[in-house]
Amino acid sequence: MRKKIVAGNWKMHGSLQQNAVLLEQLLNGMAGLDCELVVCPPYPYLPQVAGLLAGSQAKFGAQNLSEHHSGAYTGEVSASMLVDLGCRYVLVGHSERRALYGESDSVVAAKFEAAHKAGLVPVLCLGETLAEREAGATDSVVLAQLQAVIDRVGVAALSSAVLAYEPVWAIGTGLTASPEQAQQVHAVLRSRVAELDSVVAAGLPILYGGSVKPQNAAELFAQPDIDGGLIGGASLVAGDFLAICRAVV
Ligand code: PGA
Repeated sequence: MRKKIVAGNWKMHGSLQQNAVLLEQLLNGMAGLDCELVVCPPYPYLPQVAGLLAGSQAKFGAQNLSEHHSGAYTGEVSASMLVDLGCRYVLVGHSERRALYGESDSVVAAKFEAAHKAGLVPVLCLGETLAEREAGATDSVVLAQLQAVIDRVGVAALSSAVLAYEPVWAIGTGLTASPEQAQQVHAVLRSRVAELDSVVAAGLPILYGGSVKPQNAAELFAQPDIDGGLIGGASLVAGDFLAICRAVV
């Protein structure tokens, strides 16, 4: 059976005080979950999160990393620094990074490689814009995003990675892909990986992200190729995030 993961992407939200309250509520409510619970706070809060989650089953990760190992890259954070702080996961190629910070498929592939080489689990985010979906280009867009990474690191690197399908039009908008729409794209992604390595494909967790809420999580997670979620807004509310985690089957 594939690993099930529900990861919270806090984006640029939180404070020392808010994080402490949220994490305490999560820790109090997470007994008996059938998935791995992951939180991805902003960089400065990683040590706080590491401290508060120590000894629990929960994992944490970062929202981004540099493709470079070290050097004159003011403001950047390397994979080895994230490892130092105890991160297990790192988001790579979130659509906000691609759209707002100009991360191309090749930069995303380089970041994936940096994460992989450092022993982090990259969560590779893939997704189409509304215009691309309306033009019938959804499959070709997500497959090209995936291919850029496979070309750089090889399919075997996906055996210690996670994919997250996040249609750009569904992120933070309240619009969610229907379970059928999401399943279709997840199946396309898994089949492409299976053409190269069926064992890697069978074990690869593919998360869905984009306005996942307690109300829609169960029907999304019931789809055969949806292995959990990447949750933005709802991950900031402990009750909602835990309800989403409990919807994992
Ligand atoms: P959302 O964000 O759940 O607020 O739509 C998801 C994400 O950006 O990862």
